[in-house]
Amino acid sequence: MSKLTIAIDGHSSTGKSTLAKELAASLGYTYVDSGAMYRAVALDALRNGWVSKAYGIKEEPIINALQNLTITFNVNSQGQSITMLNSENVEDAIRTMEVSNVVSQVSKLIPVRRRLVALQQKMGENGGVVMDGRDIGTVVFPMAELKIFMTATDQVRAMRRKAELDAKGQDFSLSEVLENLKSRDKADMERADSPLIAAADATILDNSELNRNEQFKLVLGWVAKFQKYD
Ligand code: DC
Repeated sequence: MSKLTIAIDGHSSTGKSTLAKELAASLGYTYVDSGAMYRAVALDALRNGWVSKAYGIKEEPIINALQNLTITFNVNSQGQSITMLNSENVEDAIRTMEVSNVVSQVSKLIPVRRRLVALQQKMGENGGVVMDGRDIGTVVFPMAELKIFMTATDQVRAMRRKAELDAKGQDFSLSEVLENLKSRDKADMERADSPLIAAADATILDNSELNRNEQFKLVLGWVAKFQKYD
């Protein structure tokens, strides 16, 4: 059975990475979190003072620094994917609200997108990959066998995201979380280069009323259809 390429795109906090990780683990595929790569570039820019929520962005140093940034993924002893920036484990550092607040400014820069898309294509060149993001089915792997576009209501997404932040001891109000989700979605959808949009051949998955198990079973059924005709 040849290995599929599975592209999972969609709105922020719809559980893309949860589904992608579950699928990759059960199929024995590689999981790539493309959002983590944009977050890593944003973290580097934040640390260097090249981007801030209040003052905006200095594009030139971010673009110049790209050639010296190495972004890779390690797998830890629990089988979890760990984002590495220049050999530093930044898995936790990239998940803060501070990074979420500036990542859209960084991810709209065309040279950043070109560089990360090329890296992502290399990571998935042999198939057997589940990659989640915003432009995977449209730009990174337009030939992916299975494309899923995930969505859920704003309220459900904000509540899920708040629970994640709470669990990490990051205390933000529901309205603050909702505001961040909506503004990131708006930026993703209105971006001139590779905006967030469902690929014409993507299957829409609205999981507002599905639990994790129901969703997983449903998607495994979709995967099985492709494997059957292989
Ligand atoms: O998936 P995430 O929320 O961790 O992604 C962080 C940000 O990166 C998100 O706000 C949009 C951007 N992103 C992107 O522009 N293209 C991708 N393929 C993945 C993420």
